[in-house]
Amino acid sequence: MPEPPTAAPPTASLPSTFDDGDLYDLMLSSISYGFDFYFDLARQANGPVLDVCCGTGRILLPCLQAGVDIEGVDLYEPMLRTLRAKAAALSLSPRVHQADMSDFSVPRKFALVMIPFNAFIHNMTQAAQIRCLELCREHLLPGGLLAFDTFFPSLEYFSLPEKTRVLEGEVPHPQTGLPMRMYDTRTFDRVAQTQHSLNEFQLLAADGSIAAVHRSEIISRYIFKHEMELLLRVAGFARWEICGDFDRRPLTRESDAQIVLAWSA
Ligand SMILES: C[S@@+](CC[C@H](N)C(=O)[O-])C[C@H]1O[C@@H](n2cnc3c(N)ncnc32)[C@H](O)[C@@H]1O
Repeated sequence: MPEPPTAAPPTASLPSTFDDGDLYDLMLSSISYGFDFYFDLARQANGPVLDVCCGTGRILLPCLQAGVDIEGVDLYEPMLRTLRAKAAALSLSPRVHQADMSDFSVPRKFALVMIPFNAFIHNMTQAAQIRCLELCREHLLPGGLLAFDTFFPSLEYFSLPEKTRVLEGEVPHPQTGLPMRMYDTRTFDRVAQTQHSLNEFQLLAADGSIAAVHRSEIISRYIFKHEMELLLRVAGFARWEICGDFDRRPLTRESDAQIVLAWSA
């Protein structure tokens, strides 16, 4: 399906935030975003589970520990390397595959396919979005469930100043207790529906000075509800629900995420 020329994905010049799994974990592994929702779905799935964009195993490893029959897919080898190292320390042997979410094949079908923590937005073209959904559907057992969440930008979000460095969070280093700071500088292209994030990750020394700085980039493509429904329809899903939070409340103008539940026929 051809893309309009205005939707051509922008290109990044810095390393991706996913090029260093250990650094990613240092900053983000304590985040509980959507954990209970996906963990509960995985434990309640009546069959095997596929974690697409499994990252460093934030959800996959606890699922494995809980006895869930789960496999993972992720494009970025550094994320999978960190996942494997964490698994080895726990004496776990995860089955993970390095592949793009719009071009993967795992030789069995699943009761649950999930794409946790806003990862679907890394499909930068409409063709990739549709192919990803088709592949998820093709990997589902009859009656199986696809669950994922995407960022749902609010009016307030778009009114934040662009190209301005914003402190997103400060967390203590897990070993030293010294502060680590994460800044984001965002720009939007409302025609291409893309967000460009320049992430700056600072490690502070005991005297408050900056001991190390890591800069990386993420470009993502946001999606609104009606577009999401069209994507699901084109990808062959028979039935879906789009909610405004992990507790399945309705999507409203206040929602900042959309939670998609889609069932294979
Ligand atoms: C925000 S992280 C979420 C990781 C994990 N799902 C979690 O909940 O912690 C996004 C993940 O998507 C992966 N990713 C980005 N683009 C991808 C693509 N095109 N295909 C497969 N994985 C991709 C990244 O490597 C990263 O692990």
